[in-house]
Amino acid sequence: MPPSSAWPYPRIIAHRGGGTLAPENTLAGMRMAKQLGFSGVEFDVMLAGDATPILMHDETLERTTSGHGAIAETAYQDMLTLDAGSWFSGAHAGEPVPSFENAGRLCIELGLWANVEIKPARGHEAQTGTAAALLARELWRGAPVQPLLSSFQPASLVAARDAAPEFARGALTTRIPPDWELWMRKLDCVSLHCDYRMLLPQQARAVRDAGYWLFCYTVDDPAIARVLFDWGVDAIATDRLDLIAPDFE
Ligand code: G3P
Ligand code: MG
Repeated sequence: MPPSSAWPYPRIIAHRGGGTLAPENTLAGMRMAKQLGFSGVEFDVMLAGDATPILMHDETLERTTSGHGAIAETAYQDMLTLDAGSWFSGAHAGEPVPSFENAGRLCIELGLWANVEIKPARGHEAQTGTAAALLARELWRGAPVQPLLSSFQPASLVAARDAAPEFARGALTTRIPPDWELWMRKLDCVSLHCDYRMLLPQQARAVRDAGYWLFCYTVDDPAIARVLFDWGVDAIATDRLDLIAPDFE
């Protein structure tokens, strides 16, 4: 059932942890978000070669770590010595690739709400959805605020629902497709997450009128955030934690 209540989570979400102020998908990024007063973070969860859920955006190590090769072919044990901070700045040298377990624990410790984006490597869609949902259940058991699980991959969302149906789920898409309502029902999602550059005001209205929540990424201009909120968008993810304050309305 789509929600009929107001979005119960923070409205301004730090994208990939600390946006552009810290190396993406790291614990340093989350600490940065917290330090700046943010109360919600988005991050990407992928499976390492040994099926450990980790924080990672790309399917390969090269762009954001000192390592080489495919994430799906590298055991997490072999990632422990990698540097996931130097690509960003010398001040972050030695920053580790976090496990989802450590990231989840830090979110709980810091009181950060989490939008867990399930980001499977190709061919691992269902497995990643299952693993992320089961670990989320374990990590957030008894916590007052639960994470929202989202994904671009329908198979990941279905697997997450089958493994841990209690979580709110968000369907991610670049552009809202014409059959979005059918798609939301099929995937049993409560929120629709899209690229704000592809969103039309009439689509925003239709999504909200149908009772779904609407989340836009990645909004870095306060003037655009203003327009989106006027259209009825519930929440945005931003890379510019320095330009869009956590209490921006
Ligand atoms: O979850 C929203 C956003 O993170 C999707 O894009 O590529 O940054 O994971 P990406
Ligand atoms: Mg993401």
